[in-house]
Amino acid sequence: MSRQHEVINAEYERAFVVGVELYGTRPLLTLQDSLSELSLLADTAGMTVVGQATQNLRHIDPNTFIGSGKAEEIREAVLEAQAQVIIFDDELSPRHQRELEKVFGEDIRVIDRTVLILDIFAQHARTREGSLQVELAQYEYRLPRLTRQWTHLVRQAGGGAARGGAAGVGLRGPGETQLEVDRREIRRKIDKLKTDLERVRQHRQQHRQQRSRTGIPVISLVGYTNAGKSTLLKALTGDDIYVADQLFATLDPLSRRVDLPSGRQIVMTDTVGFIQKLPTTLVAAFRATLEEVANANLLVHIVDASHPNAPQHIEAVEDTLAELEVPPIPRILVYNKSDLLPPGQPPLARAGGEKYDAEVTVSAITGDGVSNLLSAIETTLSASMRRVTLLFPYDRGDLLSMLFSSATIESQEHTPSGARVTAHLPLFLYERLKDYLISSE
Ligand code: GTP
Repeated sequence: MSRQHEVINAEYERAFVVGVELYGTRPLLTLQDSLSELSLLADTAGMTVVGQATQNLRHIDPNTFIGSGKAEEIREAVLEAQAQVIIFDDELSPRHQRELEKVFGEDIRVIDRTVLILDIFAQHARTREGSLQVELAQYEYRLPRLTRQWTHLVRQAGGGAARGGAAGVGLRGPGETQLEVDRREIRRKIDKLKTDLERVRQHRQQHRQQRSRTGIPVISLVGYTNAGKSTLLKALTGDDIYVADQLFATLDPLSRRVDLPSGRQIVMTDTVGFIQKLPTTLVAAFRATLEEVANANLLVHIVDASHPNAPQHIEAVEDTLAELEVPPIPRILVYNKSDLLPPGQPPLARAGGEKYDAEVTVSAITGDGVSNLLSAIETTLSASMRRVTLLFPYDRGDLLSMLFSSATIESQEHTPSGARVTAHLPLFLYERLKDYLISSE
């Protein structure tokens, strides 16, 4: 069980959800849709949502987030509904958290969307890297919010924290409070996690370079949570991949080889699901995993076309990709769950947004359209890659490593004038490396 999970302790807990809308802002989802999504998240974490409240505000209250009168009103409703936990749909500042805890009293816990998402991620981490990343995000979230309540939990959390606590006694300087000692412990823990992650990351990079040397293109599946990425990967490979009707059932990237119609092989990587208001601590902690996306030869963006908020989901994914500074690699948009659409329904109306190299409709469950998707992948890959031979002077190792992370290498040889490499380049890289070109097809 994760540490954060102890805070939620969710099994069958009764939860009350609260959302606000600020005048003059245009959120991606309506207040009600965002609260429905929050309820689904609570459900995924094992809670039962028994009530909700909303408020339209001109400004966020600096103390209680919602207006103090509204907070009192909600307290009554929460007691009436016999809820044990209140979940705010937006991230609460440490101060909001403290003030709200005062209003709601000791018997009702106040948490926010971020804690909920972190908790779900912690439950679903499969690999060491996944666990490290979630743990880092949890500590970074917790550090500025450390109060007596959290101190107690950190102390309980066993292993490192408890040992650190014991050492803390000896280290404590004059006048230093327990809280300061605990903060230092968490900072130390964060540093250690970052070092561990860096090691895992270097390992991953070597792995990627090896893959690149084998010349197999890498395709990343991205999509809003629950869009059907794992199901599609399963349909493409026939593998026994974990699929669940839950948000974020998949957390760590999973790679599988897939055969294209021509017999050419590709590697497909399933990545973490995206969601609107994805906590910033989490995006930062998952940057290494998400780098897989940036280094792919092609992105396949899957959307649950049967979801009423499908256009907003597409936008949320595109925004996150932009935030991650993913380069302009080719993209295919896949409208999934076509079996749930009424026959003859017109395609989704998307206003603006990204341009895709191809759009395909599939049902990952029935397999309908999956072969069209494979053909689209094949065509897009061929159209977007150039076979080139390049010559790099030996002092441009930086270019060589850029090549290894984003191109598929066919051959490499060392010559007196530099490293001569034949590779399939994505177009954006072709533009950048033009000066080193010997020949191109
Ligand atoms: P995350 O782990 O949250 O990122 O989810 P994911 O995108 O990997 O989705 P997953 O493959 O776990 O599918 C989510 C749910 O949608 C499961 O209940 C699937 O059975 C269901 N699903 C996926 N594809 C289809 C489809 O084509 N049709 C229908 N009817 N259901 C589908």
